[in-house]
Amino acid sequence: LILILDFGGQYSQLIARRVREANVYCEIVPYDYDIEKIKAKSPKGIIFSGGPASVYAEDSPKCNQGVFDLDVPILGICYGGQLIAQFFGGEVSRADSREYGKTKLEIIDNTDLFKELEESIVCWMSHTDFIEKLPEGFEVIAKTDSCPVAAMKNEEKNIFAVQFHPEVEHTQRGRDIIKNFIYDICKCEPNWTMEDFIEQSVREIKEKIGNRKAICALSGGVDSSVAAVLVHKAIGHNLTCIFVDHGLLRKNEGDQVEKIFRDKFNMNLIRVNAKDRFLSKLKGVTDPEKKRKIIGEEFIRVFEEEKNKLGKVDYLVQGTIYPDVIESGTDKASVIKSHHNVGGLPEDVDFEIIEPLRLLFKDEVREVGRKLNIPDEIVDRQPFPGPGLAIRVLGEITEEKLEIVREADWIFRQEIKRNGLDKEIWQYFAVLPDVKSVGVMGDERTYSHLVVLRAVTSTDGMTADWAKIPFDILEEISNKIVNNVENVNRVVYDITSKPPGTIEWE
Ligand code: XMP
Repeated sequence: LILILDFGGQYSQLIARRVREANVYCEIVPYDYDIEKIKAKSPKGIIFSGGPASVYAEDSPKCNQGVFDLDVPILGICYGGQLIAQFFGGEVSRADSREYGKTKLEIIDNTDLFKELEESIVCWMSHTDFIEKLPEGFEVIAKTDSCPVAAMKNEEKNIFAVQFHPEVEHTQRGRDIIKNFIYDICKCEPNWTMEDFIEQSVREIKEKIGNRKAICALSGGVDSSVAAVLVHKAIGHNLTCIFVDHGLLRKNEGDQVEKIFRDKFNMNLIRVNAKDRFLSKLKGVTDPEKKRKIIGEEFIRVFEEEKNKLGKVDYLVQGTIYPDVIESGTDKASVIKSHHNVGGLPEDVDFEIIEPLRLLFKDEVREVGRKLNIPDEIVDRQPFPGPGLAIRVLGEITEEKLEIVREADWIFRQEIKRNGLDKEIWQYFAVLPDVKSVGVMGDERTYSHLVVLRAVTSTDGMTADWAKIPFDILEEISNKIVNNVENVNRVVYDITSKPPGTIEWE
């Protein structure tokens, strides 16, 4: 195990993913994690993340000093490295200007951390403070034009610090630097694989649930699907999946879920067609937060009704994944999920929760899904909000509007796929604002709906850029939508990034 102390850096999760990609298990804990708890985990190495603070600031985050006495190799990145310098009596100073972006790094010592690296590589810098004076016992192992100590080491103590970010894609050989640390310096074995994970989880779930009953709210999203198939592999028909079709799904989605989970995987699946219930509750409602609340509450009601029909149930399976459970290093660290998820259930339940994916990152969940033979259309599915099309039909929801947005969205998605753009775009969908405009078709004046196309690139949904889809593809999509979707005479493309916009329109 490698332990990552999170000082609130924006790349903390990326460090963890790099370590895991190298098949070594790691966990992220807050920077001030209790020293006894650290000892109890017996890590083979510790990585200090970057962070937004300055080590000299009064309330800057500091780790427990006992960490330095554990006799475990340490790698400090950016702020984490400056903290090491300060602790061992070096000097950290504030530069006149920020060093940001790709920078040439000269490697002075290409043994241990930089083993087998070229004399010079491009690295990614993002800092204002820098290590000006080396602490005693340390030597410089790399520098840049403006950074005299771009990396340093204390060989005897096995402590390393880098000013740049090896975890970021822009740093050449960054993955090798991390591998050198975890394999050669920490002596970790590359034994964290998804095959082993599946085998071990199935065994544990089997032992835990035995012959008792479990249920799962299946949405067709990646996380709940993978969790369900994994638990099904362990306990078979003792798992019942409840799929609440609220009538706000995309075209064919409900049937697809049924086909995959009931027919292909032979799972116990209850599909509840609750469209009328949801639509009647949503009648006349225009406020987006109100829509979310109504859908969330109704979802729980339907789910509980179905559950009660099943008699005694002992376990509830949820698709919680690691980014949802990481305790953030500082309150400055970003909170990834602020949205109320429709899958959220009340606290006072009479069953135990099972979260088989709680240690996995999204890319690991996808890999597990592939290994479990879940089709690509689920494993590679773009994020889709719990309230579904209800927040993509702006204003009041009607069946007619749902039908329009569903058809336009279907065409948009087919075309993006057909043009091979689906892998590079994070989310792409149609929105139906409550707007009509004048057009002309044939010789006739029309007065019909306007459809918005929204497509963004992103890595986590927190920030996003509008996707630069080639004009000719947009043109074709626009023509197809106007020609094939009734009551639509105009298509516009949203060119707003996040911030200031959000990905969804409501
Ligand atoms: P925004 O629109 O805030 O969306 O930029 C960020 C990500 O969250 C998704 N989203 C939701 N997911 N329930 C969900 O489960 C919701 O109410 C909800 N609203 C937005 C959105 O699709 C994007 O991936």
